[in-house]
Amino acid sequence: MFSEERSAEVVTASFAGTRDERLREIMGALVEHLHAFIKEVELTEAEWAAAIDFLTRTGQKSDANRQEFILLSDVLGASMLVETINHRAGGGSTESTVLGPFHMVASPRRELGDDVALDGKGTPCLVSGQVTGVGGEPVPGASVDIWQANEDGFYDVQQPDIQPALNLRGLFTTDADGRFWFRSVVPKYYPIPVDGPAGQLLEATGRHPYRPAHLHFIVSAPGYRTVTTHVFVADSPYLDSDAVFGVKESLIREAPTVDDPARAAELGLANPFRTLTFDVVLQR
Ligand code: BEZ
Ligand code: FE
Repeated sequence: MFSEERSAEVVTASFAGTRDERLREIMGALVEHLHAFIKEVELTEAEWAAAIDFLTRTGQKSDANRQEFILLSDVLGASMLVETINHRAGGGSTESTVLGPFHMVASPRRELGDDVALDGKGTPCLVSGQVTGVGGEPVPGASVDIWQANEDGFYDVQQPDIQPALNLRGLFTTDADGRFWFRSVVPKYYPIPVDGPAGQLLEATGRHPYRPAHLHFIVSAPGYRTVTTHVFVADSPYLDSDAVFGVKESLIREAPTVDDPARAAELGLANPFRTLTFDVVLQR
């Protein structure tokens, strides 16, 4: 029989007939932790109702373009934890971080050297790197999918009437030496969407909504594990307080300024420009 003392045990036992072993394990652990949490804080009925209302509004805020549950998972660090335990880097391979909600359109195929900053705003930046395996072998023909926010801290999909479609997105293929390069602008820090329950949670708990400046990458190649990651700009604010806990030390890079009119002209960039170098190491 159900009692305060035996609550978790009784409810877990109700799942004993679950045919799927993994589902049984997950439900058992979920019930155990949920009941322990309710007991630890002695949840009141008003608090329980507020939680139900919060989750209901989280669902109501979600649609084909907005996933408030993922945003909630992000600000609770759950997305990063799932990402990290499922993509443990090893042997010097590039660490992963959150995908985020803005990879919602396919990046357009672009040629090495192309300029992805279609709105022409921001500080010009040459982004480059080499894709290798953990043994150091170059990976030619790797796919390098990138996307970033613009100078004002918004993705193209957030400003369809302001930014050109597919601004600051590109799908590149590495050359015979595994190298990639393209022209862009220095990424900017920006706030995650705060007009929903996840934003209300940040507000109520005195947390800011900002992510440090970063450029997103998904790098894949046949025979290697795909890595979803970012490069973070070393002089950005919020590196030590990312709203979604996505920063890893190994992903931070300086973006030095180059003042070289001849080199700028050769690249088709305004002088001076900055450079962001991010080598990517893939696991087999
Ligand atoms: C992003 O980096 O695009 C992002 C990640 C998590 C939540 C919101 C935005
Ligand atoms: Fe982002």
